Order: sequence, then C-alpha cells, then structure tokens
Amino acid sequence: MKLPFFLAKRFVAGESFDEALPAIRTLTDKGLFVTLDMLGEYVKDRQVAHRSRDAYIDLVKVVDASRNFRQEASISIKLSMMGQKIDPDFCLANLRMLLEAAKKHDVFVRLDMEGSDITASTLALFESAYPDYPDHVGIVLQAYLKRTERDVERMCALNARVRMCKGAYKEPPDLAYQDMNVIRERFMVYAKRLIERSRYPAIATHDDLLINATKEFVGERAIAADRFEFQMLYGIRPETQVHLRNEGFNMRVYIPYGNEWVPYFTRRLRERKENVWFVLRNLVRK
Ligand code: FDA
Repeated sequence: MKLPFFLAKRFVAGESFDEALPAIRTLTDKGLFVTLDMLGEYVKDRQVAHRSRDAYIDLVKVVDASRNFRQEASISIKLSMMGQKIDPDFCLANLRMLLEAAKKHDVFVRLDMEGSDITASTLALFESAYPDYPDHVGIVLQAYLKRTERDVERMCALNARVRMCKGAYKEPPDLAYQDMNVIRERFMVYAKRLIERSRYPAIATHDDLLINATKEFVGERAIAADRFEFQMLYGIRPETQVHLRNEGFNMRVYIPYGNEWVPYFTRRLRERKENVWFVLRNLVRK
C-alpha cells in the first residue's frame, strides 16, 4: 500500500526536485544554507545503484548551474543507495565517480550515516575517497554510538568535515547509549572537540540544550561564528532556523525530496511523539 504524500509534507519538500524547488528558494532567500537529499536507501540491485549515482551526479550539475542557490547548497547522500550493501568496491567506484563530478563542479557532498550494520563500512569508504577529495566530501558521526569517541579523534586527525548528530536508528545497548542525558553529554563533548580541532563541523540538532551549550562554548572561547555551522531538518523549528541565522550563525537546512520518503518519514515520527500528533492532526483536518 502506498501512503499518500500529504502525510509527509511537513518533513519532505516534494516528491521530485522540481516540487522541492520553491522550498529551497524560500529558505535561501532567508539567508539559510541548504543541503539537498534525494531520498532512497538500502538499494539491492546494481542497476538501481547506478541510476542513483547518475541522479546524484545530475543533482551536482543542477546545483552548479543554479544562479539562485549556487553558493548556499551542498548535497547529502546515503552510500546504501549507491550499492554499499551489494559490494563495497562497487559502491566505492560509484562514490568516486560522484566525487569527481563534485570536485569539477565545486559542490560539497556529505555522506549521511545510516544504521550500525554499515557504520564501519561507511567510514572505510569515506577514508578511501577522502585523500583525493578533501574539500568536497564530509562524513556524519552519531553521538549515541559507543565507538564515536575514536571516530571523532580519527576525523580530527584527518581534518575532515564532520556533521555531529545524536543518531536516528534503533540500535542495541551494546553498541549505542540509550539514555538521552548520556547522548546529550556525549554530543557536547564531541561537538566541542570538533569545533576546536577539526574543519568547519556541523552541529546538527533541534535541541535547545545543545544549541545553547554550543553558543556558550564558542562565546566563552571567542570562536568565530564562521568556524562551524548549525544544521536542522526541513520543517522542524523553522523559526529557530531563521533566528539563529539572524543571530549571526551559519544555519544549513537538510532538505529531503523524492518519492522514497517512507523510511525518512518513519524516523522523524519515531524520534519525537509531537511529530506523530502533527501528522494525525493534519489527517483529521483533511
Ligand atoms: P530531539 O528530537 O532529540 O529533541 C530534543 C529536544 O529538542 C526536545 O525535547 C525539544 O526541546 C527540542 N525540539 C526538537 N524538535 C523540536 C520541535 N519540532 N519544536 C520544538 N522543540 C523541538 N541521524 C543519523 O542517524 N544520520 C544522519 O546522517 C543524520 N543526519 C542529520 C542531519 C541533520 C541536518 C539533522 C538535524 C539531523 C540528522 N540526523 C541524522 C538525525 C539526528 O540523529 C536526530 O535523530 C534528530 O536530529 C533528533 O534529535 P535532536 O537532537 O534534533 O532533537
């Protein structure tokens, strides 16, 4: 059964790039940066993985050609969409083709982090490609994973660009902290390290405790606002996004689009019960 798109409309900008374009323009007109995510994950077929790679390459070209948001846009991708679960070497070849286009068109590509079954492989693929594309590829680390302390150190040593987030997948207690206070504490330890010791990290959260702690940290140490950026998801706390921008911080909004929106939408519902209420309210109003 296919769910109707209006359910996901608050969190997903459109079912195609063209449908997402007005949302992209509205945000960049407000001085916000964007990162574009063509939805899809866990591809099992090589042809589909090739099509995803080519679609990402087209997206890089579209960003480069855009006069309206050229400077403000990057793209975010999932390696599982380019064949990571089929064969890591096949995926690496696809990733390298994409990064070649990204370098040529000077568009930054962020590798999203997915479930713990592919964390090690995602980091290995990132590290294989990174030396050839240090200015055009970045990674995501998840504060809830117990391994992340080591990964933060490694990424600082590489001077890689990291997005720090809490983590959105359901993970077992032997791999991931389950207590929100511990996750927050870990998040801030890593965020501070990345801001001090790595290149232009992204602090990706809607959580006021973490946003305020970051602001306090950079304020106390007189760290310039352009040394890092905040990131939030499309449709979540839009006023706060603009508010932080107006306070002088860089703010990038992650804009997902495409017809494979169900897994992304499900993660948004799972992480916050208010999101479920929002969808149910809209359903009743329909
Ligand atoms: P969380 O949902 O934990 O809420 C904490 C508090 O924040 C709330 O109690 C409330 O105070 C405040 N808050 C949150 N939403 C609010 C709202 N709508 N209105 C008012 N207050 C609100 N995950 C992953 O595993 N891999 C990835 O690659 C990424 N990528 C990514 C990119 C970006 C740009 C973002 C922002 C997030 C991700 N994530 C991710 C998701 C991330 O791991 C996490 O699941 C979500 O951001 C939810 O955690 P938060 O810290 O944002 O707030």
